[in-house]
Amino acid sequence: MCGIFCLLSLSPARRVRDEALHEHLRRRGPDSSGDLTFGGTNPYYQCLFSTHVLHMRGLLTPQPVQDNAGNVLVWNGEIFGGLTVRPEENDTAVVSQRLSSCDSPSQILSVLSAARGPWGFAYYQKAGDYLWFGRDFFGRRSLLWNFDAEVGALTLTSVASRGSGPAPCAWQEVPASGVYRIDLKAAADAGSLTFEVYPWARGGSDLASSFGPATSEPVPGGCSAVMNRSGLVLAAPVCPLNTSVPESLSAGEVPPDSRRCAEDLQQLLSSKEKDDEASRLVAVLSEAVRRRVQSLPCAFRPSGELASVAVLFSGGIDSMVLAALADRHIPARQPIDLLNVAFRLQAPKKQKESAKKHGKDKNKATDSTTEGADPRTFSPFDVPDRITGRAGLKELRELNPERRWNFVEINVAKEELQKIRQERICHLVHPLDTVLDDSIGCAVWFAARGRGFVVEDGERRPFTSSAKVVLTGIGADEQLAGYSRHRVRFTKSGHEGLIQELKMELDRIPSRNLGRDDRVIGDHGKEARFPYLDEDVVSHLNALPVWEKADLSLPRGVGEKLLLRLAAKRMGFGQSAVLPKRAMQFGSRIAKMEDHYEKASDKCTRLLTD
Ligand SMILES: *[C@@H]1O[C@H](CO)[C@@H](O)[C@H](O)[C@H]1NC(C)=O
Ligand SMILES: *[C@@H]1O[C@H](CO)[C@@H](O)[C@H](O)[C@H]1NC(C)=O
Ligand SMILES: *[C@@H]1O[C@H](CO)[C@@H](O)[C@H](O)[C@H]1NC(C)=O
Repeated sequence: MCGIFCLLSLSPARRVRDEALHEHLRRRGPDSSGDLTFGGTNPYYQCLFSTHVLHMRGLLTPQPVQDNAGNVLVWNGEIFGGLTVRPEENDTAVVSQRLSSCDSPSQILSVLSAARGPWGFAYYQKAGDYLWFGRDFFGRRSLLWNFDAEVGALTLTSVASRGSGPAPCAWQEVPASGVYRIDLKAAADAGSLTFEVYPWARGGSDLASSFGPATSEPVPGGCSAVMNRSGLVLAAPVCPLNTSVPESLSAGEVPPDSRRCAEDLQQLLSSKEKDDEASRLVAVLSEAVRRRVQSLPCAFRPSGELASVAVLFSGGIDSMVLAALADRHIPARQPIDLLNVAFRLQAPKKQKESAKKHGKDKNKATDSTTEGADPRTFSPFDVPDRITGRAGLKELRELNPERRWNFVEINVAKEELQKIRQERICHLVHPLDTVLDDSIGCAVWFAARGRGFVVEDGERRPFTSSAKVVLTGIGADEQLAGYSRHRVRFTKSGHEGLIQELKMELDRIPSRNLGRDDRVIGDHGKEARFPYLDEDVVSHLNALPVWEKADLSLPRGVGEKLLLRLAAKRMGFGQSAVLPKRAMQFGSRIAKMEDHYEKASDKCTRLLTD
């Protein structure tokens, strides 16, 4: 993960460097920093590229990378396939070489289309004076933009800073709907910016729909975008979603059945077809995890091995599967860190007091966890995710007793949450701003920091995770119908409705989650990796008809993400294969700490800085 930055100025007006923003960038890439300025005088333009590198593989490649021809690249990405990067090579150098050999837009698009993995980049193409930039198909790396019309300056950056800079409210995420090209000479002549857009082909019939939903988002004020009439597009790295619906009831829908549980999964697996389907998913996911946990710089100290991989770990099925697959590919002597975050629960009130309070305030949501709990044995961090996390740890230990699993209990009190939110998290979440963005942003930030306790031989000691790679389970619910709204949609409008919902969610995942999570996790000098959004995993799941992935006529804890549950069962899991979904903001109890009345989609006032 790196912090990349590009400032394009169309006038020689001096600009003050935004120190706060550069500090945020530096935290993403602590291993090396570099700047490079270039431009043209007649007509005038100037471009400043700046990068902070987090070193992950090969030799450390300082950036910006400039080749012999004068092309310049800033790259925040990982190549996991598509372009050949040998283990000892750095992917930045490989991308730079590949782009150097391109003379036409279609060649550049074909390099970018071929790359498998997350990326955000900016590239100065010397021949013709073009500036290219954009994000991968899923938007797994953050890129923000902002245009200051007064002085004619465009800024691109991995992370911004709330409330500073020339136009503080104007940061937007660059839509992950394609890549953009600016003709710098033409822009300098005109004194204004036009982006030429090369969209990702998203598998619609006409170009407008294949351009994706993100285009409706405006480009920064003062700029304009044009589609290239030559019809050049980036080839989508995944196949389109299978939209077939079952022909008859027997093909897809088992009539609603009352009680089903782990034994039923076992029973389903006794069907050869289901068992094969589950084992195919295990194989493709396993490969996605392998690509993400191997060839990492070894983190050791003389005293012993340190983990180089951590998992955001709630004990739910998504994170259990990732942990178990990581276990297959990480050397046996290396620990794996399981990051489990909890926000302090209120101590239970004495019975009388609480009865009185509820009499007065009937609408107040009651806390099912602390209600009726014994104040003497009450443990303020035993939130739901902590409890399922411990149970999950037990299952992982049974699966592989040789492995050292560091179950990191990360406990957050309200005072620290408030402090860090103001200091850091509000800048990272920005420009997103809802209550949900705040809850998830904070929970993920503390989890990824990895500072807490581990219990070893009955002893509790402070522990800080050293892992630079953080695996997250995002994408499983969106593809395998894990959310309760999927059930609502299915009940109301059947398979067709469910398919529409899934398609819409996969399309909006860049703007809803991924940029934000990348900014939040990157702040620790760590890299978020998303195995469920590996191109091969998405293609595999997209090709399957929806009824293979989920069967929402089955009860909660079985029907959603049915295929993943079968896979988990097949991998040897017990109870964790049938846990119902619990969203992170509820499982970690961060939502409980805050205002009980607000809605997840409301603007979050806590994210405002003074
Ligand atoms: C990595 O990148 C640097 C700088 O571009 C280059 O000098 C070096 O040879 C590259 N290393 C490998 C192994 O490709
Ligand atoms: C579209 O791309 C072609 C080929 O690179 C180029 O010649 C043409 O000027 C572009 N069209 C627009 C509208 O920018
Ligand atoms: C969708 O799934 C159905 C049922 O398994 C299958 O027959 C069909 O070939 C699939 N379509 C695509 C485009 O993969």
